[in-house]
Amino acid sequence: KQALTVPKLKAMKSQKKPITMLTAYDYPSAMLSEEAGVDVILVGDSLGNVVLGYDTTVPVKLEDMIYHTRAVVRGAPSTMVVTDMPFATYRLGPEATFRNAARIMQEGGAHAVKLEGGAELADEIRLLTSAGIPVLGHIGLTPQSVLQIGGYKVQGKNSDEAEKMLKDAKALEEAGAFGIVLELVTEELAAAVSHSIGIPTIGIGAGRGCDGQVLVYHDVLRYGSNIRDKKMVKSYANIGDTIRTALTEYVEEVRGKQFPEEKHAFLLDPSATSAPSL
Ligand code: KIV
Ligand code: NA
Repeated sequence: KQALTVPKLKAMKSQKKPITMLTAYDYPSAMLSEEAGVDVILVGDSLGNVVLGYDTTVPVKLEDMIYHTRAVVRGAPSTMVVTDMPFATYRLGPEATFRNAARIMQEGGAHAVKLEGGAELADEIRLLTSAGIPVLGHIGLTPQSVLQIGGYKVQGKNSDEAEKMLKDAKALEEAGAFGIVLELVTEELAAAVSHSIGIPTIGIGAGRGCDGQVLVYHDVLRYGSNIRDKKMVKSYANIGDTIRTALTEYVEEVRGKQFPEEKHAFLLDPSATSAPSL
C-alpha cells in the first residue's frame, strides 16, 4: 500500500469520496490507524491534552511534535502523516516558519504540516508550498488561541464571523493550502465554506457538509480523561474502562498470588540441558 498523495487527496473532493482522518501520537496508535485504513493520520498538538496531560495545546513544543511524529511514521509507513506546527512556531514570519516546518519534515518524517489561522498566514503558506511543503489549514475554533477566545465555543454564529471564515478559507486556498480543517463551526457555515472552495474541508464538530472528518484517537476510543465536547464526538469503543478493568485485575492477581501460574514460569527442564539432537 502506498501513502495517499496530496493530489489524490484533493481529487477526493470532486469524486465525493469522504476523507477519513484520525489523530495518532505514537507507534501503536499509528499502526492500528493504518490497519483500519484511514486516509490521513494527523499528529495533532492535541497530544498536549490527551497524551501529555496539559490543559491546552499551548505548552506543546516543536521537539514534542517531532518526537511523536517519528514514532507515528514508524507505526504507519504507508499512510500520509500530517503534523501540527505547535504554538508560536509559525508567527514570526515566513523564514522562521519554513525552518520549523522543515524540521518537522526532515527530523520527524511528516508529509505535510498543519497550522491554525486564516488570511494572516498567506505569506507563510505561500513560502512553504512553493518550497514543497504541503500545508493543511485550520480555521473555526483554533485551540492554540483558546486563551484569547475564552473557551471552546462554536464559531461562525453571526454574519461577521461567517464572512471572515469564508474569506479566510479563500485566502488559504489561494495561498496554496491543500485542505482546511474546520473545527467547531455551525453545520450551515461549514457546508457553505466547503462549497465555496476547491480544496477539501475536513470537519471536527462541523456537521455533515464537509469533505472529510477528523477525530481525536482518544475520543474515538474513550481512552483517558480529556474527552472533548461529547456532542461532536462519537466514541466507537470504551477502551478506558477495558484498560482499567484489566489493570485492576492484574494488580489483584499479583497480590492474591494468582499470577504468575506454572505455565508462565521457566522450569529447569532436564532435556534442555542435553545436546540438541539433529
Ligand atoms: O490537534 C488536533 O487533534 C487537531 C484536530 C482536532 C483537528 O488539530
Ligand atoms: Na491541533
